[in-house]
Amino acid sequence: DELLPSGKSYTVAIIKPDAVAHGKADEIIMKIQEAGFEILAHEEKTMTESEARDFYQHRAGDEKFQELIQFMSSGPCHVLIISKSGEEDVIPAWREFIGPTDVDIAKKEKPESLRAQYGTEVLYNAVHGSNDREQASRELAFFFPTFKKQHQHTDELASKS
Ligand code: TYD
Repeated sequence: DELLPSGKSYTVAIIKPDAVAHGKADEIIMKIQEAGFEILAHEEKTMTESEARDFYQHRAGDEKFQELIQFMSSGPCHVLIISKSGEEDVIPAWREFIGPTDVDIAKKEKPESLRAQYGTEVLYNAVHGSNDREQASRELAFFFPTFKKQHQHTDELASKS
């Protein structure tokens, strides 16, 4: 379940509400494509607090959990399914592209990363990427419950033509 029917690896990316509110979504999407990533699905979505709590359940109990939930449900985000041709495992490639969680570290160590360019602080770090295949699979089911079925169908059509 942790690869697409085509055998490709995928990751779930989010352009978070801070970057969207700053009007940066289109610019970020262009950079994603310029870097050679493929966007297999794209949906604009405003999470409810309950959805955000569910999405970040691995951080429940954190001191700043409520702040994180409020931020993530504060406005629209763009949820993307990302893949990359010729990349066996897109998850670390994407994490590398967005940079470290902490924007201060990103700015020092990875100034070309998305978080360095568009984030403002650790909580408001502009972009999300799945941590591993299991998380990617959960996130895919969470945001795009019918994607795999549809993608399989598209793959079948492509292989027949
Ligand atoms: P996490 O899933 O650990 O990091 P990542 O987004 O890099 O996978 O954490 C979720 C979000 O919680 C993170 O993007 C920003 C926030 N966060 C903090 O505000 N402070 C912290 O020390 C950490 C680890 C995360």
